Amino acid sequence: MRKIGIASDHGGFELKEKLKSYLKEKGIEVIDYGTNSTESVDYPVYGKKAANGVVAGEVEKAVVICGTGIGISLAANKVEGIRCALCTNEYMAKMSRNHNDANMLALGARVIGDELAKSILDTFLAEEFLAGRHKRRVDLIENC
Ligand code: RB5
Repeated sequence: MRKIGIASDHGGFELKEKLKSYLKEKGIEVIDYGTNSTESVDYPVYGKKAANGVVAGEVEKAVVICGTGIGISLAANKVEGIRCALCTNEYMAKMSRNHNDANMLALGARVIGDELAKSILDTFLAEEFLAGRHKRRVDLIENC
């Protein structure tokens, strides 16, 4: 069974809950790294919790959500080994997997609607890394 991490700040909490149910309905196991309400919190804490879960191998990939998706993606990308892609459409989600081997997806709950968020998440989870010339470039993200 696939195991996916999810986390958000207060701005992304409601979308997190919807995506969590959506993934569970598809038979995907979900590890929730918080937050647990709409009470104001700091997005770096939750971006890093999910990122650490990916790096530790607790989950295969993770989706993180804040108001814009910007802050939580910046925080996740500070964790070594994380490639967190902020996506606003399915094409970006596809390319983030095919070319960038992204292991985390960031979404902006105040930027996109719920149905688009589900569709972006589906694409992100379905697409594979194409490797080849893209592997060299992804390796250079860490080593150049
Ligand atoms: C919180 O108000 C907001 O700043 C946060 O959710 C996010 O959009 C930051 O990038």
